[in-house]
Amino acid sequence: MSKKYGNIILGIETSCDETAAALVEYKGGKFNILVNVVFSQIDIHKKYGGIVPEVAARNHLMDIIPVISQTLSEAKINFKNISKIAVTNGPGLITSLIVGAQTAKTLAYVWQKPISGINHLKAHMYANWLSNKKIKFPSICLLVSGGHTELILVKAENKFKKIGQTLDDAAGEAFDKVAQMLEIGYPGGPIISELASKGNPLAFKFARPMINSNDFNFSFSGLKTSVLYTIKKISKQKMKKYQLKADICASFQQAAVEVLVNKTIKAVKATKARTVMLSGGVAANELLRQNIKKEAELLKIDFYVPPLPLCTDNAAMIAVAGFFEKEIVWNKLKVDPNLEI
Ligand code: KG4
Ligand code: ZN
Repeated sequence: MSKKYGNIILGIETSCDETAAALVEYKGGKFNILVNVVFSQIDIHKKYGGIVPEVAARNHLMDIIPVISQTLSEAKINFKNISKIAVTNGPGLITSLIVGAQTAKTLAYVWQKPISGINHLKAHMYANWLSNKKIKFPSICLLVSGGHTELILVKAENKFKKIGQTLDDAAGEAFDKVAQMLEIGYPGGPIISELASKGNPLAFKFARPMINSNDFNFSFSGLKTSVLYTIKKISKQKMKKYQLKADICASFQQAAVEVLVNKTIKAVKATKARTVMLSGGVAANELLRQNIKKEAELLKIDFYVPPLPLCTDNAAMIAVAGFFEKEIVWNKLKVDPNLEI
């Protein structure tokens, strides 16, 4: 490797509906994103109201090589300067995972590079490392995405312990389903939070399942059902009104965020965590970010959250996770759609 460069990892991500590649360099004790390319398939899946796995896999297949080529050419980096390849090997959609994994294995074999299989959920947490702040441990991480809602005790840089999780729907899934009920589009999270900013969060009192339960688990299906019953009671004509939709969005978001914040802070106190962090697609939610920040300030502890583009799926987080993951030989890499932390 040329002395010009530090340790450079190529990250590859195809677990769901984003085809992504990134180059992250570690130099002088700091992570630096050289290039971060995300090709989102949202426009393709929008018309179905959710992700169609086979369509996602076919599109990954078409896009993965162009996305990797673009990443290398934008960084003006020759493959010889890459020290390792990091690729998501789970959890996720099996057919989507296979495309990224097979591509990474082929490149590792042809380029003669070591490879690491990356847990997508850990990578979401590692997105917080990209800010180069010194993270104090133990930390409690609220990991909230379209498929997962978990509370993780982060004991050290590479030591994670799940202490709670959703017993039914993930928080992001609830945002997506409520948006579907309101017929306002996909993915629901960003659309709901935008509409919510114009609505009254006290207009409807939706259920807050398990908010006071004596554990660190969550449940979002009751909240979703409570929104559904409210919508069913309102006439179709009335449901077309913008302000009514905005009020439902604001009230739903308020309930979901209250539960998430309540349980996270409960976990912080119970584990005597020194810091708190957010990660995953739902961490892009402004109300959630603000409310956790306020609670952290009250507790006088540090709060970390990735910048918006690094909350949702990307490969920079996969690359940074690669710095902490053991290297294997290409033919040992296996995908696991149900991989756990
Ligand atoms: O982490 P991610 O990009 O993909 C998964 O690994 O699941 O998360 C996607 C989820 C979707 O459910 C989307 O609706 C949600 O994150 N999301 C949001 C916001 N932006 C994205 N949820 C609430 N508020 C947002 N601003
Ligand atoms: Zn994700």
